[in-house]
Amino acid sequence: MTENRVYNFAAGPSMLPVEVLTTASNEMLNYKGSGMSVMEMSHRSKAYLEIITEAEALLRSVMGIPDNYKVLFLQGGATTQFAMVPMNLLTKNGKADYVCTGNFAEKAYKEAQRFGKQINLAGSTKDENYTRIPRQDELTLDKDADYFYLCTNNTIYGTTWQYIPETGNVPVIADMSSSILSQPVDVSKYGIIFAGAQKNMGPAGLTVVIIREDLVGTTLPGTPTMLDYAIQVKNESMYNTPPCYSIYICKLVLEWLQKLGGLKEMEKINRHKAGLLYNFLDNSKLFRNDNNPADRSLMNAVFRTGDEELDAKFVKESVAAGMTNLKGHRAVGGMRASIYNAMPTSGVEYLVKFMEEFEKNNSK
Ligand SMILES: Cc1ncc(COP(=O)(O)O)c(C=O)c1O
Repeated sequence: MTENRVYNFAAGPSMLPVEVLTTASNEMLNYKGSGMSVMEMSHRSKAYLEIITEAEALLRSVMGIPDNYKVLFLQGGATTQFAMVPMNLLTKNGKADYVCTGNFAEKAYKEAQRFGKQINLAGSTKDENYTRIPRQDELTLDKDADYFYLCTNNTIYGTTWQYIPETGNVPVIADMSSSILSQPVDVSKYGIIFAGAQKNMGPAGLTVVIIREDLVGTTLPGTPTMLDYAIQVKNESMYNTPPCYSIYICKLVLEWLQKLGGLKEMEKINRHKAGLLYNFLDNSKLFRNDNNPADRSLMNAVFRTGDEELDAKFVKESVAAGMTNLKGHRAVGGMRASIYNAMPTSGVEYLVKFMEEFEKNNSK
């Protein structure tokens, strides 16, 4: 099964562990004697309820989610959370603080402005092409804000927050779409964590929300039923049909992670993989990474030669060598290697070797 697979460096949807795909394939036609695939079964059936219950239990155990947090399996992608967060949380003082560290944080900041008049820009590194994360002392915080918002890992720019800002009693809301499950996090430091599943959790179509109980219960007038956290909590993510198959794959991914040793072990592997790449980049005479070294992402490494034609040649030759999706996002140019949990170490070693060869063959 694995022999024709490429090393896929896509930013999302991205690689899934081969073990997960193999299990899904084995269980495709007849899931555990049910005579049907998971895709075909009622979301209210006993077999399916076991799957969703187990997925939540695994997520709670792998991430160490405290009991006073609810877990939701929703649809609409992370982008829907850009609206759902303000619709549910802008209910006390109607104010929120946002930090822009990349285009997804910026999108969330703009979306919130549809629902509140005082959406503050608490910090931004846009003037520096988002090459770094602002320090705590650069943030302008409002102690009366209903929440503080950040995007923990900037998928397009390849930077990551290395600290959780100190915000007093203001709950921290985090978009963790491209870093969730890559390393341990202290969930108790956050009000809400949300993530589109299509990078480290499973297929697209599933959005996971982890929300502290006291933040559930109020909404702005006119909030649609499906976008009310309280209704989703009350109905245990089954107000309507949930993204059944994506939740099933997410469960398999969590089983895989747990077997591997959990998030501490995953972090070790991820640090090793990213280290191979950044170490090569820092010693290369051809390739470079322009981000602040302390803020570099473990999941998305951006790099360039500085010569657009040479970058294009690199991407073309990488495809011929069995690698895909190394072209950088159009907002940044150059190249980007997304090396999420499911990218094996051998994939990064292969990429680095290829880069070494390319450097040798293309240095003047
Ligand atoms: C950090 C981050 N936030 C939000 C999104 C948007 O997610 P979705 O496509 O699930 O709405 C992405 C997608 O790549 C992302 O990387």
